[in-house]
Amino acid sequence: MSRNILVTSALPYANGAIHLGHLVEYIQTDIWVRFHKMRGHACWYLCADDTHGTPIMLRADKEGIAPEALIARVHKEHSRDFAGFHVAFDNYHSTHSEETRFFANDIYGKLKAAGLIEVRAVEQFFDPVKEMFLPDRYIKGECPKCGTADQYGDSCESCGAAYAPTDLKNPLSAVSGATPVRKSSDHYFFKLSDRRCQEFLRKATREVCKTQPEAVNKLQEWLGEPGENRLTDWDISRDAPYFGFEIPDAPGKYFYVWLDAPIGYFGSLKHLAARRPEIDVAAFTHPDGGTEMYHFVGKDILYFHALFWPAELAHAGYRIPTAVFAHGFLTVDGQKMSKSRGTFITAESYLKQGLNPEWLRYYYAAKLNATMEDIDLNLDDFIARVNSDLVGKFVNIASRCAGFIHKRFGGALAATASDLLADAQAAGEPIAALYEAREYGKAVREIMALADRANQFVNDHAPWELAKHEGKEAELHRVCSEALNLFRLLTIFMKPVLPRLAAEVEAFLKVAPFAWADAAALLPGGHRIGEYKHLATRVERKQIDALLEANRESLAPAPAPAPPPHSQQRHAEHQQHAEEKTAVSHISIDEFSKVDLRIARIANAEHVEGAEKLIKLTLDLGTETRTVFAGIKSAYDPATLAGRLTVMVANLAPRKMKFGLSEGMVLAASGEGSGIFLLSPDSGAQPGMKVK
Ligand code: 2FM
Ligand code: ZN
Repeated sequence: MSRNILVTSALPYANGAIHLGHLVEYIQTDIWVRFHKMRGHACWYLCADDTHGTPIMLRADKEGIAPEALIARVHKEHSRDFAGFHVAFDNYHSTHSEETRFFANDIYGKLKAAGLIEVRAVEQFFDPVKEMFLPDRYIKGECPKCGTADQYGDSCESCGAAYAPTDLKNPLSAVSGATPVRKSSDHYFFKLSDRRCQEFLRKATREVCKTQPEAVNKLQEWLGEPGENRLTDWDISRDAPYFGFEIPDAPGKYFYVWLDAPIGYFGSLKHLAARRPEIDVAAFTHPDGGTEMYHFVGKDILYFHALFWPAELAHAGYRIPTAVFAHGFLTVDGQKMSKSRGTFITAESYLKQGLNPEWLRYYYAAKLNATMEDIDLNLDDFIARVNSDLVGKFVNIASRCAGFIHKRFGGALAATASDLLADAQAAGEPIAALYEAREYGKAVREIMALADRANQFVNDHAPWELAKHEGKEAELHRVCSEALNLFRLLTIFMKPVLPRLAAEVEAFLKVAPFAWADAAALLPGGHRIGEYKHLATRVERKQIDALLEANRESLAPAPAPAPPPHSQQRHAEHQQHAEEKTAVSHISIDEFSKVDLRIARIANAEHVEGAEKLIKLTLDLGTETRTVFAGIKSAYDPATLAGRLTVMVANLAPRKMKFGLSEGMVLAASGEGSGIFLLSPDSGAQPGMKVK
């Protein structure tokens, strides 16, 4: 029976680049959607940019552009990156849209009518210079528990204490540097503590997370024992200035970004439905519409999707998700992604370095399962698996047999039937069950086990030997036809993971796009195939090294004022801070004097086309000039740099970067707040002077 399925991935924030951490989720979801489409279901894959909130507003402000211009630019970048990895949304929209506003207002209005919205005064820190209330992560100060300086307003990275921003000692606004003042203002709350919500969630969340026992346990922890009422009301409003939707009956108050973010799933649906008459929006938004809705999310935003979102939906008279599927984070070589190690790899850089997106799709699929465990991109293992399985096992079957069919039999296949083919066909349903259950790693293992058998069959019959002997034509024809039929079946099974490769196989075999049911039949005798062209190349270590190099940032990383709480992003940024804080051990004066520090005059400074953070500096050392790419763009306008003196490391090994050779490094100070501060010598210093 054909199903009507709506599938979503989490909406990425519209102020950052897509990286390999994000792609775990998008590739995981895309495989699931492609699988369901191949099964003949009506399956809609929806996503959008998550465009609202303070970080996006401030980022646009910093760039001197309107938030609308920022989100339009990022929308293009995100769409390009997803398409580059064959992540095929049916619609990629924006939460800053009339469709999302429509549902946000509707859901809010219905919650209000149900008596689940309450207005209460809240006292918060206010930046008197910027005239705005400060989100917790935009306030820094000393930890109230251990006294460590420069801690965010919600938790201490040194001792781990969690606290309210108003508990910080000597607080400062990370936006303007001003001392914030306390100010009270009315906030709108969704009454999650209401008995109706608690009772509903106790029943519904088990259902929504039923495929993941570890998620059910988490929810249980959040909800507490029956009668315990652990959930507190949720503050869904923010005061102007805020980039978002103004609350209909509350001028100057805006919906908090997390209120309209998941509503963006429906916004994207409504936007698509305007172009696709076969989509009945109401069937997806009303309870009992006979449709299914699944959200793929990172484990850190399970809370929003399994508690807040279903509670909002149910009490506004909407349907709730059929299931929420949470996944873990990505580690690279066993560690969190890191800018200084070059493992914070952007989607754009991966594609620009010429790496095949299907290598990554294959590798992720091979590692993914239905749990919330983290998955590790081990770079040596990546190379080994792609080369041995994808190229060495899978593609190898076709490359060893196709030429004979073309050269010796005019491209026509012989009729074939065998136990091996029957076994491969019979594997279709168990493999389908593994895709359905998101056990892609197991599915890939099953498929590769079949590929091993197919290769063994080719080895045993050695078509290259048969081809040398007269009278063996029929056998050669049969062996190669059987191998190609096996290859076709394996391609059908791998198609959700490798859509591009599958399309090339469809073209080479001269067949219509594969559906899952096609595995029930074989290519008949007499079917003519096309000429075989190489389907996949091997990955080489030097390509990976170049990728790491292109993503490595040596100078103080961009200080990223208060990163928004995003799954992989937050995960990685925290790591960044931790790295910078690693214990300092002593060095001798001799070790220090190995560093050749020189006064340099910035002779020229210019923007670097395509670089988010870099400025290209031409440095005059008195007797020579050097080119240095410095990660200071967030803090300096190149026009203001020319002529000034600074300090450079003159004996740093030159580094080949994406944009050219960097021959040294300029010194700058930075902390965890915003701002990068280039060093300057006192007046009188001359270019070329040694700093010691
Ligand atoms: O964590 C994040 O990156 C959020 N932008 C995810 C939003 S998902 C959904 F609710 F829209
Ligand atoms: Zn502390």
